[in-house]
Amino acid sequence: MKNGFGPILPGAEHILHGADYNPEQFLYHPEVLSEDIRLMKLAGCNIMSVGIFAWAALEPREYEYHFEWLDEVLDRLAENGIGVLLATPSAARPVWMTQKYPDVARTDERGRRQRHGGRQNHCSSSVTYRKKVTEINTLLAKRYGHHPAVRGWHVSNEYVGEGCYCEKCQSAFREWLKQKYHGDIHELNEAWWTYFWSHTYQSFDEIEAPSPLGEMQLHGLNLDWKRFISHMQLDFYLMECEPLRRLTPNLPVTTNFHDFVHLDGGVNYWEWAPHVDFISWDNYPYWHTDTHSNWEEAVERAFIHDINRSLKNGKPFALLESSPSATNWQPVAKLRRPGMLNLGSVQAIAHGADTVQYFQWRKSLGGSEKFHGAVVDHYGGQRTRVFQEVQQMGEELSKLDSIIGVTESSKVAIIYDWENAWAMNDAEGPRQKGLDYFETCIAHYQPFWTLGIQVDVINMEHKLEGYDLVIAPMLYMLPENVARRMARYVENGGYLVTTYWSGIVDENDRCRTCGRPNGLRQVLGIWSEEIDALYDSDVVDVEGYKARTFCDLIHLDGAESLLSYSSEFYAGRPALTRNHYGKGYAFYIAFRSYDSFLQDFYTRLAQELKLPRAINAGLPIGVTAQKRGDILFVQNYDGESKQIQLDQPYYDRLTGQLYQGWLPLKPYSYQILES
Ligand code: GLA
Ligand code: ZN
Repeated sequence: MKNGFGPILPGAEHILHGADYNPEQFLYHPEVLSEDIRLMKLAGCNIMSVGIFAWAALEPREYEYHFEWLDEVLDRLAENGIGVLLATPSAARPVWMTQKYPDVARTDERGRRQRHGGRQNHCSSSVTYRKKVTEINTLLAKRYGHHPAVRGWHVSNEYVGEGCYCEKCQSAFREWLKQKYHGDIHELNEAWWTYFWSHTYQSFDEIEAPSPLGEMQLHGLNLDWKRFISHMQLDFYLMECEPLRRLTPNLPVTTNFHDFVHLDGGVNYWEWAPHVDFISWDNYPYWHTDTHSNWEEAVERAFIHDINRSLKNGKPFALLESSPSATNWQPVAKLRRPGMLNLGSVQAIAHGADTVQYFQWRKSLGGSEKFHGAVVDHYGGQRTRVFQEVQQMGEELSKLDSIIGVTESSKVAIIYDWENAWAMNDAEGPRQKGLDYFETCIAHYQPFWTLGIQVDVINMEHKLEGYDLVIAPMLYMLPENVARRMARYVENGGYLVTTYWSGIVDENDRCRTCGRPNGLRQVLGIWSEEIDALYDSDVVDVEGYKARTFCDLIHLDGAESLLSYSSEFYAGRPALTRNHYGKGYAFYIAFRSYDSFLQDFYTRLAQELKLPRAINAGLPIGVTAQKRGDILFVQNYDGESKQIQLDQPYYDRLTGQLYQGWLPLKPYSYQILES
C-alpha cells in the first residue's frame, strides 16, 4: 500500500464529486444559479470547475473587466460549501482579440493563419497571446487566490499537440534544434540520415517544419517536430502557471490531460507530470458500441487510468471530466445503460482517482455541445435517470473517506511510451497499417485485468527497480541507455518480457546496426534476423496457438525455446524464448496472437512470481477486482448477471451487509467491499 499522499485538494474530507460548471452561459438567466446550487447540494457535489471558457464574459472588450458575475458565483458556492477549481481561460479567447491581434491565432501546416473560431488554437510563441494570458491570469490570481471557494487552479483546457507553423514558431524550432544538436548541423544530418533523397542541410536556417507542401518523409524531422510541439505546449503552460504560483503558492495547480487514445500526435505527458500538483484527465469511454464488448472497453479505460496513476508514482489523480450520459461527438450517442455511469465512475476510483467529475453540470442551449450529456438536462430538474444516478454516486462517495490519498503499489509494469508510438507509427514498415502499438500494449495488459492484478503503465525512462515483472511490447525505439537499464534490471533478478519489433531504432528513429533487438541481444539471448509481416487473413501455427500479423524470425544465441512455429517456411524456429541472465529472466515473444496465448503465458508467470491478486477467486469474463486501501472493488462490465466465490467473508461498505460464499453481481454493477 502507498499511503500518505494526502488529499489532492488540501482539506478535502470526502472523495470529490462535481463537474465543469459554465454559469457564464446563463448570465441572462440569473434564476439558474440558485437552482444549480440547490441541485448540486442534492447530488452531493463538493467541487466545480469554473471559468474554463469564460474569457469573453470576463473581458468582453479589451481591458473592460466584468468580474461581478464571477464574484457572485464564487460567493454563493462558498456559502454552500462547494469548492471551486478556478480555470484560466486561455483555451478560448474573445473575438476582439483575434481580430485586433491576428498573431494570436495558429498558422496551419500549409502556412495559413486561422481566423477566429473554435478553441485550443493559439500560437504558442505569440508574444501578444502570452501577454494577454499573463494579464488575465494575474488578475484572477489577485482577485480570487484567497477566495474561500477556490481550492485549486484548472489551467486552460486539454493542451493537445497541434503545432503552429508561423515564422516565429519555426524559428523557435530551429533554435531548439540548435540546442539539441549542439549547434552542429552535421550532427543533425547524421541523426536524421538526411543523405536520403539529397535532403542534407547546410545550416539550421534551412530547416522548415514538416509540411504536406514540403518535407514529410524525414522521420527524424517529424519526430523532433512532435517533441518540439510538446515542449512548446509545456512552455506555454509553465508561463500560464507563473503568476498563479507566485501569487497563490498554496493553491494546487493542475491541467486536464486529454483522453490518450486520441493522442498519437499529442503531447508527452510524462514531461508534464512534475509540473502539475496532481494529475487530472478526461475520460470518454465508448460503452455499448457495436465494435467491441463493454468489458474490452473497460480494459482499455483501466489501462489509461493506470497511466494516470503511474504518472506521479501512484499519487491519486482527478477524473476531471466524464460524460454523465450521451457523448455527442462519438459516432452514435448511445445512452449509458442503467448502472453503467456509476460503474465507470467507480472504475476510476478503484484505479486511484480521488474525484468523480463530469463534463458538464448543465447542458448548454446552443453550440456544438448542446446535445452532450450533462448532469442537468435542458428540462432543468432532478427527476431524470441521469441526475438520480449522479445523486446516488454522491452518497456512495461520501462513504469512501478511508481511501483518500491511498493507492496500492504494483509488482508489474507495462511500458507504453509516447515517443515510441510517434516514431513507430511514422516509420512506414513493416506494415503500413496495423502496427497497433496501443492495442498491443492493451493486449498484454488484459490478462492482468482478468486476474485482478494491478499493473503500472510507465514510459521507458521510468525506473524499473521495485517491479517483479516488466513488459515492454513493441519497443521499436530503444535508446542505448534504456537498454542498459533493462539489462541491469534483469541482472538483478527482474523478469523482462519483450516482443517482435523491439530494439530497431535509436532515439532519433535512425536504424541501429548491431543486430536486433539492438541493445538487448545478450539479455534475451537471441538474434532477430528478419520479420515476416502477414496479411490479415494469414495464420501461422505455433504449437496449437495462432500467430498473426507479425512473425519474427529469430535465432537462439543462448536462450531456450519454449514454443516454436509449426507451419510456414520457418517451422521449427523459435517463437517464444526464455533466457537466464544474471539473477533474472528475459522472455521474447516473437509473434503476435489474438487467441488465448497471452492469457496462458501471463497466468503462468503470475503464478511463478506469486503476483498479488485483489482477491483469490475465479473471475468470470467481464468481471475484475481492484484493491485500494481497506476496500475491494468488484466490477461487472457484462450485460449479464455474474457471481464470484469469495475467498473470505466481506462486508458491503455501503450497506453493511455481510457476504460469504457467492457474491452476486447484477449487469453493469459493482460491489464495494471491506473485510
Ligand atoms: C473535452 C473538453 C470539454 C468538452 C468535452 C466534451 O474533454 O475538455 O470542454 O468539450 O470534451 O466531451
Ligand atoms: Zn506560431
